[in-house]
Amino acid sequence: MTSVAEFPPIHALHTRRSMKFLRAPAPRPEELEQMFQAAMAAPDHGALRPWRFKIIRGQAIGLLADMAIDAVKRSGDKRMTPEKEKSVREWMAGVPVFVAVAQKIAHDNTKIPEQEQLLATGASVMNILNAAHMLGYGAFWSTGLGTYVEEVQEALGFDPLDYRFLGYLAIGTPACAVPPAQRPDFREFVSEWTGVPA
Ligand SMILES: Cc1cc2nc3c(=O)[nH]c(=O)nc-3n(C[C@H](O)[C@H](O)[C@H](O)COP(=O)(O)O)c2cc1C
Repeated sequence: MTSVAEFPPIHALHTRRSMKFLRAPAPRPEELEQMFQAAMAAPDHGALRPWRFKIIRGQAIGLLADMAIDAVKRSGDKRMTPEKEKSVREWMAGVPVFVAVAQKIAHDNTKIPEQEQLLATGASVMNILNAAHMLGYGAFWSTGLGTYVEEVQEALGFDPLDYRFLGYLAIGTPACAVPPAQRPDFREFVSEWTGVPA
């Protein structure tokens, strides 16, 4: 059997970890394209391609911060204190690229349950996170920034009647060294069904 060390893609899957604090440089355009193309390889029942991505970068990040913070405040969420707002703005200002993620709901499809469309979209995001890691970038999936606030969903062009907005991916160069993540032993999560009653 090939060892992890001999097969770098498996090593990459084992070592990916989320990185929240990011800085420039952003992935180059062709690297970002590689990440999105990796998303297209997600398993997808019925080939519905339910995933939708919106790139937010440059001055649009400041506009996103203004829009989302104001909308969260208007929604009555008391957690958006001045301290929280400051830290959110500082964090966002460092991130060179955000990708807003949504699942397009296939209303007229009676064969593929919406749950499966959601799973396919989640799998597409996983491919982006792994591709970012393989290309040497850090990435972080966040459902902060008003993900569940309708006004934010609409402002991003994801009308909740047709889309399920799933948050943002922050992508960039890791701002600091991050130690390897401690992962559980897979044996705690894997069992075998033999068909023979215990
Ligand atoms: C759908 C989704 C939304 C998430 N939203 C947040 C979030 O808003 N804030 C946060 O701190 N972590 C959030 N996380 C968790 C981080 O993205 C990350 O997975 C976690 O910090 C563990 O790091 P790891 O991916 O290296 O195991 C979210 C994860 C998922 C799958």
